[in-house]
Amino acid sequence: MLLLGIETSCDDTAAAVVRDGRDVLSSVATNQDEFHRKYGGIVPEIASRRHVALLSAVVDDALQRAGATFGQIDGVAVTCGPGLIGSLVVGVAAAKAYAFALQRPLYAVNHLHGHLFAPFIGRAEEPAYPFLTLLVSGGHSQLVAVSSATQMSVLGRTRDDAAGEAYDKTARLLGLPYPGGPMLDALAQRGDPNAYAFPRHRAAGNSLDLSFSGLKTSVRYFLESDAGRNAKAEDVAASFQAAVVDVLMTRLQNAYERARYCAVVLSGGVAANSALQKAFLSWAQRNGVAGFIPPAKYCTDNAAMIAAAGYYQRDAVQTDPLGLCADPNLPFELNAAPA
Ligand code: KG4
Ligand code: ZN
Repeated sequence: MLLLGIETSCDDTAAAVVRDGRDVLSSVATNQDEFHRKYGGIVPEIASRRHVALLSAVVDDALQRAGATFGQIDGVAVTCGPGLIGSLVVGVAAAKAYAFALQRPLYAVNHLHGHLFAPFIGRAEEPAYPFLTLLVSGGHSQLVAVSSATQMSVLGRTRDDAAGEAYDKTARLLGLPYPGGPMLDALAQRGDPNAYAFPRHRAAGNSLDLSFSGLKTSVRYFLESDAGRNAKAEDVAASFQAAVVDVLMTRLQNAYERARYCAVVLSGGVAANSALQKAFLSWAQRNGVAGFIPPAKYCTDNAAMIAAAGYYQRDAVQTDPLGLCADPNLPFELNAAPA
């Protein structure tokens, strides 16, 4: 089954052609960083205008690279939420038009479900259930128990900043350009993770929730202090990163102890982080459980993961090409997907 995936929930304009959820024939993503950098973050209006300008060329490019024609596409999978409304509507409108014109089914995919299935792209076998996912991106940070392609529950989530947001904001404090996560990661590799003891959020009681705003504020106060003004940026970056990884891994451990899982999965843009990957893989090995991380290009937003989720969830998310509406606040549970 050959699906055309379309993803425009934030600032990446992406299209992909994927066979049976795992075999990627093409995955094209144009990032808009150069248009947003001078504002220090994503400007929604600019993002949606760039999607309008780029999307049809990106879809054509994806088909060409896949060596496929529109006639060979069996269906269209599109991100319908959550995300920026102005960005989502561009992808949804285009996907509806393609599906309607081609007389093929349209699959409405939750962006976060795309991240859940990204680690299985390119693998020979289908995901084994249940698996436990640590989903850490620029907009979300949560622990998810996935019992089947269509049944999943959020065990814990961030109460304030997402992990990627904390990275980007802290990178900004260190004078790094947007998006700062990857640059902070590179800087941290040259620093001492034990140089400064930044606070680790402790969840109350049994909660598996996360919080990063206290950590970010503590780095800010430190940088404004005399010690901070003389500190090496790489040591601050490495110490911040050690605190983030520590909190994420502790919460993953807490969740893992409460149920039986066939695999643990790291996903979302922050899954590209070198220190987190290292900690995650050695933790999985110590616990004797299979650990999956997507290749870097499928950690950050892409359309292959949307086609993958659309494939696994096809019976539950097929929707009317004329009726689908983008939903910026689309709830996580699948049964809340639009009809
Ligand atoms: O999943 P994603 O592409 O977009 C959302 O759905 O949010 O994640 C983007 C986030 C950004 O905050 C970016 O700084 C962060 O992922 N990120 C990283 C790294 N690569 C991307 N954070 C830390 N280390 C990295 N290597
Ligand atoms: Zn994402």
